[in-house]
Amino acid sequence: MTRLETTPAWRALNDLARDESGLHMRALFEADPGRFVRYSLSVADLLIDYSKHRITDETLARLFALARAREVENWRERMFTGEKINFTENRAVLHTALRNRSNRPVRVDGEDVMPAVNAVLARMRAFVARVHAGEWLGCSGRRITDVVNIGIGGSDLGPRMVCEALASWAHPGMRAHFISNVAPSEIAATLRELDPETTLFVVASKTFTTQETMANARAARDWFLAHTGAQDAVQRHFVAVSTNARAVREFGIDTANMFEFWDWVGGRYSLWSAIGLPIALYVGMDNFECLLSGAHAMDEHFRSAPMERNAPILLALIGLWYVNFLGAESHAVLPYGTRLRNLPSYLQQADMESNGKTVNREGERVGHHTGPVIWGGPGTNGQHAYYQLFHQGSRLIPVDFIAAVNTHTPVGQQQDMLLANLLAQARALMTGRTREEAEAEMRAAGVDEAQIARLAPFRVFEGNHPSTSILFADLTPEVLGALIALYEHKIFVQGIIWGLDSFDQWGVELGKQMAGEILPDIATPSGRAFDASTDGLLDFIRSHRRSAS
Ligand code: F6P
Repeated sequence: MTRLETTPAWRALNDLARDESGLHMRALFEADPGRFVRYSLSVADLLIDYSKHRITDETLARLFALARAREVENWRERMFTGEKINFTENRAVLHTALRNRSNRPVRVDGEDVMPAVNAVLARMRAFVARVHAGEWLGCSGRRITDVVNIGIGGSDLGPRMVCEALASWAHPGMRAHFISNVAPSEIAATLRELDPETTLFVVASKTFTTQETMANARAARDWFLAHTGAQDAVQRHFVAVSTNARAVREFGIDTANMFEFWDWVGGRYSLWSAIGLPIALYVGMDNFECLLSGAHAMDEHFRSAPMERNAPILLALIGLWYVNFLGAESHAVLPYGTRLRNLPSYLQQADMESNGKTVNREGERVGHHTGPVIWGGPGTNGQHAYYQLFHQGSRLIPVDFIAAVNTHTPVGQQQDMLLANLLAQARALMTGRTREEAEAEMRAAGVDEAQIARLAPFRVFEGNHPSTSILFADLTPEVLGALIALYEHKIFVQGIIWGLDSFDQWGVELGKQMAGEILPDIATPSGRAFDASTDGLLDFIRSHRRSAS
């Protein structure tokens, strides 16, 4: 296959990046009062403003040409129709089927997966209803009040982020907790706050072999038994979500209390499956299905809208423009408000585990950059920490501003202040401040000319820093579903253009394997030599280690 960086479409973009290097967004806005109207979209209740980017009609035209040359639309169809596009694992990629509210058949190996998807949703609904109605009771006959999800990666980050985002929709009296890290302080701190008689553990693991999850699940079971002594009640307090029925049974959970999903659901794309059970328990099954509906609306848009008005394709192409042609290395996600504060962590896995790769579908090393570093955090906090680097640092960092217009927890004018800050940051990044403006401001403030000359260089902001703004009226389950699906499809499109398998994750295996090899050496020296550094660190650990109690 022709190498991507030698294709005419790629070269045309390289040329354009050189020719347009002097372009400033301020000038683009001045020249075109209609820029916002032309470069914004309303999709599934999201307003997506992509006008504050270093793009022109010509940039977009060449990016669309690249997407066409890489057959993005064809690959998109192959994904939706259940082809095994995760070819290193020989699996279909069908998180879209999990939220296929149209119920149109979706076939894998000739078999429609929708009946099985609907059957699990029905089981989840029945289970959630029993817990909420007080029909599913704890060992002493008391109601379940606390749900603890034990999982990691995709079996943690999605449900954790969604539960936090939808806290205003929580079922009365229901609390959700998440244990992921094998670091003992996490489970110790969580269990300290819980009453075993009213706690339900959801052990969530696609493989049911993940070291951290299994260790935490065993510790939770030991804690439950130590406090209740009710061996026969484990079944009332532990349920499982997995694709591995045998391992679930071996752990001691009745498979009647197991909610299944399938190998065509990637871990980081699994919150729509039974992995979403803690979400459904926390906010109710109706709200969980609204989340699915929102994602489905974005799926329908992604699948049918022309490229020129297709939000995930546009965001993917704009992101790729910065990564491959303008030298950006990272991308910041900045939700304004605390409900979405876990979105950056969630998107780190979604994006970096999907596109953090250097070998293409032909098994060759790629000759271009792939997925950027994803990071970020809630505004306005970041404004008082790392935004300095956005404004005056030497690196180009495209950012996404995300906010709900309304809050479910109003306090005075604070929501308006939050929104004003978002708008101000996006505008300041775009316009910057010229030397003349900096000087004029100081003059107006009565600063003397000598000081003005000395301070002006520090008060100049080059501007031209790109951002996408995503706004919505309220953070509802539907809106959240659409927002997550928007990013999922953006990641998909980028992976297709870069020629990657975005659905495997071989890179995480080596460290896992080595942890298994090193573990016995922590407690007992085996005499094995790893490397000088690892051996030195192990010596330090052994000489300072108090035995575990
Ligand atoms: O280590 C990476 C990973 O395999 C992720 O892809 C996955 O989401 C996570 O571990 C958890 O895996 P599991 O659900 O099988 O426990």
